[in-house]
Amino acid sequence: MSFNALKEKGMPLEKQMRNWHEIVSNPYNKTKVDCYTRTRQILMNGIEVEAWGFKHQLMRYLPDMEDKNLITKIGRIENTQQMTANWLDPADQSVLETTLAYEQVAVDLTAWLAQNEPDKYVKETFDFGLLEDFDHLYRYSQFAYMTEGIQPSDIVQGQTDVIVGRPTQFHHNCNSLRLRKHYDKNVATPQTKVNILTVLSGEQQTHNFYAEHGFMYGDHVLRETYAEIKDVEEEHVSMYESLIDPAESMFEKFLIHEFTEVCNYYTCVEDETDADIKKIWEMFLEMELEHLKIAAEIFKKYEKRDPEEVIGSEIIIPCRFLSQKKYVQKVLEKEVDKRLAPNGEFTTVDELPDDWASYDIQEKVSEVSAPSENCIKLMEIYNKRDIVEASDDLKSKQLKLLEKGLQEIAVAENTVMPDYLECMIDEYENSDID
Ligand SMILES: [Fe+2]
Ligand SMILES: [Fe+2]
Ligand SMILES: [Fe+2]
Ligand SMILES: [Fe+2]
Repeated sequence: MSFNALKEKGMPLEKQMRNWHEIVSNPYNKTKVDCYTRTRQILMNGIEVEAWGFKHQLMRYLPDMEDKNLITKIGRIENTQQMTANWLDPADQSVLETTLAYEQVAVDLTAWLAQNEPDKYVKETFDFGLLEDFDHLYRYSQFAYMTEGIQPSDIVQGQTDVIVGRPTQFHHNCNSLRLRKHYDKNVATPQTKVNILTVLSGEQQTHNFYAEHGFMYGDHVLRETYAEIKDVEEEHVSMYESLIDPAESMFEKFLIHEFTEVCNYYTCVEDETDADIKKIWEMFLEMELEHLKIAAEIFKKYEKRDPEEVIGSEIIIPCRFLSQKKYVQKVLEKEVDKRLAPNGEFTTVDELPDDWASYDIQEKVSEVSAPSENCIKLMEIYNKRDIVEASDDLKSKQLKLLEKGLQEIAVAENTVMPDYLECMIDEYENSDID
C-alpha cells in the first residue's frame, strides 16, 4: 500500500501535549521483552534526541518570530516523546545490559541499512561501521558476564552473534581519515538521506549513553573500556555525518529530520509485537505527520520548492530489526582487515603505508594498554576463555578472523594474539567447564 507522508493526516499540534501520567508510561519487563522491541525503543530515543537537538540549533539561526514559535512548540513535543521512549527502559535493567542492547541496535540496524542502501559508497561505509560495533558487542559481553553474570543471549536472545570483529584497538583513527565523501543532495535518493540520519542518530545516542553511564562501575578496566568505545562512537558520529551534503539548507535538513521520524515510526508500527508499545508508536506517527507538514510549509516558504523533490512521495523503511547473522558473517569474513584511507577511500591492512595517519593516535591511546584487550585477559581468569555466542562454523573461524583483523604496527602490548587465544580455547576445552 502506498503511503505518501506529505498527504496523510496528522494530529493537530495543540493536541500533542500530554499529561505526566501519559508522558511517563510503564516500562517493559526486561525478562519478557522481545529483543527487537528493546532495540526499537533504544533507536527511537536516539531519533528523538536528534530531533530535539536539531530544533534547538535551528532556533538559534531563525530570525522570524512566527517560525520560531512553531518550531519551539514542536521541539517541546520531541522532548516529551524522547522521555516516553527512553523511559520505557526499566529501572532494573543494568547499564551493561542496556549497553549490550545498544550494540545490538548498531549491528542489526546497520546491517539492514547496508542491504537497503542504493548508494554503493554509503553502503560500503555502513559495512565498515558495522564490524566495529560488532566487536564492541563482543568486548562488552565479557564484562556483562564478569560483573553481573549475564550471558549475551540474555539480552540479544540468540539473534545476534557475539564473537571478535575488527579489534576495537584499531578503531581509533586520525580524524581526517574518518571523514567520508558526502552525497550530492540533488542526486541522492530520499532513502539514502533517511538511512544516514537514522544510523547517525543511533550512534550519537550510543555515544551519549556511554558518556553518561560509563563511570557507573567500580571496575577500572570497565571504565576505561567505556572511555575507549565512547571515543569510537564519537568517530562513528563524525563518519556518518560527513556523508551528508553540507549544501543542504537548515530548512531542507528540518524536512529530512521530520521525514526520518515519520519513516522510523511507520516501521515501528508495522513491526511492533508489544501491544502497549505499539499504541505509543501509532500515536507518535500521527504527531510526526503533523511535524512534517509544518516543516514542509516552512521549507516551501523559504526555498520555493516542492518538498517531494527532497523526500519523494513514498514511505521508507529504515529500521526493520531482523536477525542479520548471515549478512554480518559475510561482511566479517571479507572485510575484517579493512581500514580507512585518505580522501574518503578504504584500504586493507596489508596495503597500509608506514606513515599511515592513524598509527600515531593508536600508539598514543594504547601506550599503556588497550582496555578492550585487557577485558579478554580478565575473562581468562573467570572462564578460562572469552565468551562467544555463534554458530559452530563461525566459531571455527575465530582464530583466522583475529589474525586477519590484526595490524603489524601500533599493536597494543597487551593484545590477545591468535596463539594466545588458541591456548585459552584449548585449555577451556580440556577443562571440566561446560
Ligand atoms: Fe519526534
Ligand atoms: Fe559501538
Ligand atoms: Fe557505533
Ligand atoms: Fe518531529
